[in-house]
Amino acid sequence: MPVPTIEWKDEHVRIIDQTLLPAEKLFVSIDTAEAMWEAIKLLRVRGAPAIGIAAAFGIYLGIRDFAGEDRLAFDRRLNEVCEYIGSSRPTAVNLFWAIDRIQALLKRYEDRPVQEMKKLILEEAREMVEEDNRVCRKIGEHGVGLVGEGCSVLTHCNAGGLATARYGTALAPIFRAHELGRKVHVWVDETRPLLQGARITAFELVDTGIPATLITDSMAAWVMSQKKVDIVIVGADRIACNGDTANKIGTLGVAVAAKNFDVPFYVAAPVSTIDRKLPSGEGIPIEERDPEEIKHGFGRKTAPDAVAAYNPAFDVTPAAYIHGIITERGILRAPYKKSIGTLYDTI
Ligand code: MRU
Repeated sequence: MPVPTIEWKDEHVRIIDQTLLPAEKLFVSIDTAEAMWEAIKLLRVRGAPAIGIAAAFGIYLGIRDFAGEDRLAFDRRLNEVCEYIGSSRPTAVNLFWAIDRIQALLKRYEDRPVQEMKKLILEEAREMVEEDNRVCRKIGEHGVGLVGEGCSVLTHCNAGGLATARYGTALAPIFRAHELGRKVHVWVDETRPLLQGARITAFELVDTGIPATLITDSMAAWVMSQKKVDIVIVGADRIACNGDTANKIGTLGVAVAAKNFDVPFYVAAPVSTIDRKLPSGEGIPIEERDPEEIKHGFGRKTAPDAVAAYNPAFDVTPAAYIHGIITERGILRAPYKKSIGTLYDTI
């Protein structure tokens, strides 16, 4: 993939500001936990795995300037920063997975001095980037069998390189198929209201040279009814232990249409997107965003000020609609309670 989403460079965290794509490719430096909180909240960095990595770097930035050698005070400060970063967005469980992972270092290295802890935390954040690259590549390998020669895939939102460290989840099997020389085509849902499909997925596919056709969200069912879609692959923000999956608002409608028109519907996500504490999708917290994103998106008023608007950022697709969940450990199949359970038994 040509553009790294987030990286540690010259003592700074560097991200590409995704709110400006595709008009502008602007890389910005993030130097404080507050700036990282804002970057996550405003979707400058977005997509579940990328948010997790951003959280880990954000925590490091929040303790980097901690003065002194008082380990107890350091641990207190780190836990405060974790809570603060955790308040940026509620749905993607990778954010909390990353926070837990950094907090686990406190226990694992409870006898280490403050300066060493700082180094260990930065190393852990950087390792998450490398690990994400390996995991996404494996998702590509496990999913590529579903994307044969001539396959037409529909995707919603952006679960590509820019939603992860570099390679993507839902787009990974497509990228892999393309690398293997297969001719594939992607239907890209625009993804209202923030247009992650049009602005980011379309950008990545054009950049990679994979043929893609942009449609508005309301066209997806029609395109499927016309037998123009062989498979749907989407990403995930949080997967419950029974397979219920939260993803970008509009995913549920795509899944319902896919079932109706007999199009296989797959989710692609790292195991870190599974919430082991949640038995079903009912408990998934759904972020509600500013209604202005619907009424006044991208600098133009598109609805009267006085009208009420409701703006949930995610929805939950019941497991019954999902043919399989493509992970770095293989494709999980229903019953998910069992296949997801087996995953943890073998860790
Ligand atoms: O609000 P966003 O842009 O962060 O939502 C992103 C999605 O819904 C993605 O599909 C999901 O995070 C998977 S990313 C690999």
